[in-house]
This record gives sequence, structure tokens and C-alpha cells, in this order.
Amino acid sequence: MPSDLPAALADVRTLLLDAEHLVRAVAAGRRRGVEAPAAERVEVRPVALRSGPHLQLVSRTGPVVSTRNAPLGEEAAAAVDELLAQPFGNLHVETATEVVQLRVTKKGEAQLHRSATSRRGVEPAGPQAHDRPKQRLVDPEDPLFRVLGAGGDKRRQVDAFVRQLAPLAPRALEAGPERELRAVDLGCGNAYLTFAAHRWLAGRAAQDGRTLRTVGVDVRDDVVARSRGLAEEAELGGLAFATGTIAAAEPFDGEAPDVVLALHACDTATDEALARAVRWQAPVVLAAPCCHHDVQRQIVEGTGGPAAAGPLVRHAILRERFADVLTDALRSLVLQLLGYRVEVVEFVDSRHTPRNALLRAVRTGSAPRPELLAEFDELTAAWGVEPALARMLAPELAAVRTGLGATA
Ligand SMILES: C[S@@+](CC[C@H](N)C(=O)[O-])C[C@H]1O[C@@H](n2cnc3c(N)ncnc32)[C@H](O)[C@@H]1O
Repeated sequence: MPSDLPAALADVRTLLLDAEHLVRAVAAGRRRGVEAPAAERVEVRPVALRSGPHLQLVSRTGPVVSTRNAPLGEEAAAAVDELLAQPFGNLHVETATEVVQLRVTKKGEAQLHRSATSRRGVEPAGPQAHDRPKQRLVDPEDPLFRVLGAGGDKRRQVDAFVRQLAPLAPRALEAGPERELRAVDLGCGNAYLTFAAHRWLAGRAAQDGRTLRTVGVDVRDDVVARSRGLAEEAELGGLAFATGTIAAAEPFDGEAPDVVLALHACDTATDEALARAVRWQAPVVLAAPCCHHDVQRQIVEGTGGPAAAGPLVRHAILRERFADVLTDALRSLVLQLLGYRVEVVEFVDSRHTPRNALLRAVRTGSAPRPELLAEFDELTAAWGVEPALARMLAPELAAVRTGLGATA
């Protein structure tokens, strides 16, 4: 039933300013017959900055992104009022308990739809989320960390990583209640993430009546042996460790995992993890890459890229950063071409690790888009590089080319 637009906007305003319960909101689309809003899309979420809790508004117009952090209180209220004054056609608000959709009809009325959130087990981001241990998904006081010997930075990284996993858990659980959920952490090292993700995901799976098996994989015997001992000590059932390379990992004896994790798997080990995930057709994949030597090396050894882009890679530090960006952009394109929806996000403040980008991918199985293949081809040709992930998934990419009628 259409309703009064100002009243519906007032409801949305209340939800946006309830930072304790707000998870995220998106304003997008335009209303019919009126001027377009200043931005194509604005995403709103509560964030904890060093200076205190804020409401963050990220506006996008084409490739241009701008971020505004408004301290809670008058400034956040003013920012929300400015946002709601713009003629967006759709407002989507997720809170800890409900999802609210507001669509503006052709007649300028509000079509409001409210439903209970399907994000069970997900806490609102909450502006103090990073400051108040109790609001962390992974409690930093968990005795598990004492057993593992993880320091503060690692605990924060792990919590932030699990926080990125949380909204995707329902997707991983889609296979249904009849079988166990399976997660794998590739290049698990000291296994802080493996333990923490297992702890959280087991609780989330139990809410759906599911059990969880998690396997940490690492090429190093010593870290695997240590993690096995710690898993016994912590009495965590369903958690196992396997020695071996990521490329050859078969953590579930031929069965595919539902969740693939990789935190700082060195250089092309991240590509091995992504390639493995693609071949498993894993529904949910989260990989925070580490160093990126592969593409950087090719830039140095090759033509160095387009002439006008020389300054981007002339200095070693810029070359290293640029290679990071190019590598992750190409990884994202490869995953998208092979049936994944991909977001590249900052998962933790750079104070806790400079390697703080995360590729968050969900398998949709959607057909490859020719423009993405064109982007991939243009970027790799311009820079004279062939990224590791494309080498590892060469047959799959060749099949995409054939399907799109393109030549290599
Ligand atoms: C930088 S550590 C990160 C460990 C852990 N994920 C973390 O964030 O604390 C990278 C780990 O990946 C492992 N590794 C690197 N290449 C690998 C490969 N090809 N197969 C399996 N493990 C690998 C290393 O042995 C190391 O333990």
C-alpha cells in the first residue's frame, strides 16, 4: 500500500540515526520526472574512528567515490537530512532486526516494505564495535587466544575478517540442513583465523541446526602439528589441520567446501587459494592478499606499461603499491568472469596491518560479461602481464572466451 512519503522518510531517518542497531543502508536510483540526485548511490554505515563513533556516508558517481564521516549527534543528523532531501528512488536499510525498503512510486508516494532480517547471528556494526570487546564477533578475551598466543593486532585482524564473513554466512548455509557445513583456511600458518572462524561459524551453523567441519591447510609441518595440538587443548570439535600445498588441497576428501578463507597467503599462494575456490565452486570466498611479487616482477621485466603511465611505476614504492592494485583488480575480474560477485574492501584499519584489502566473493554462477573480458584483456595487454590467477585458471578462462566468441 502506498503511503505518505514524508512520514516514510521520517521512519527511515529514525533508523539511520539509530547507530547502535543500524547495519547499513543504501540510497540509490532516481525518482521519475525529477532531477537526479547528486550521487548515483550513497552507502551509510556506523563506524568507529579513533575520534569516536561516526556515521559514514560513501557516495559514488561513476568511478568517483567520496567519503564523509559525520560524528554521531547533530552532524550525523544533518548529513542524514541532506541525504534524505535528495530525490533518491530507493532506500534500503538493514538493521539488527529488520530490513526496510522504501521505493518512491511514479506518483511520488512511498511503497514501504519491512521484513525481519535474514542476517541471524550478525551483530550491527555499531559505532563502538572496534572499541568494546563485548561487541566483537570474536571476543579478544577468549581464552582461545591465550592458548594460541595471538597478539592484539592479530586478534583485531581476525575479528575484522570474521566480521566480513558474517553477512555471507547465510549464503554458505544455503546447501540445507541435511549436511555439515565445511570451511577451509588455506595457508593457515599459526591458524589464529582458522580457530576464530571455526569458533564463530560453528555457533552460526548451530543456529540452523548444522554442524561445521573446518580444516586449516599449510605447507609447513611444524605449524600444522602445533595447531593440531592446540585444537586438542582447546577441545574444539570439528577442527582439523592438514599439511600440503594449497594447489593440491583436498581437505574434505573430494567434497567441496562451502567457505574458503585465506589470510595473507604469500604472493601467489593467494592465487592458488582463489583458483582452488573457483574449481570447488565454493559459494563464499574471502581472501586478504599478502605481498604481490608476481605482477610487480612482470612490470619490471616487461615494457613497464603504457608510456604515459611511466610515473606510476618509476619509483619502487609506487611500483609496489601499483602492482598490488593491478593484481587485485585483475583477480577481481577473473573471479567475476568465472561466476563470482566480488567486492574488494578494506577489512581492518591499516594500523593493524598494511595488508588490509580483502577480496570478498560470492558465487552467483552468472554468465560472463563481455565488457569484463575486454577490461581484463586491455589491462593485461597494456601492462604486458599475465597474472598468476589467469595462468592457473587458463582452461576456465579459455572456455569463457569460447563462450563469448572472443579470441585469446
Ligand atoms: C604470512 S603467513 C599467514 C598465516 C595466517 N593465514 C595468518 O594470517 O596468520 C602465510 C602462510 O601460508 C603458507 N603458505 C605459503 N604458500 C603456501 C602454499 N603454496 N601452500 C600452502 N601453504 C602455503 C606459509 O607456510 C605460511 O604459514
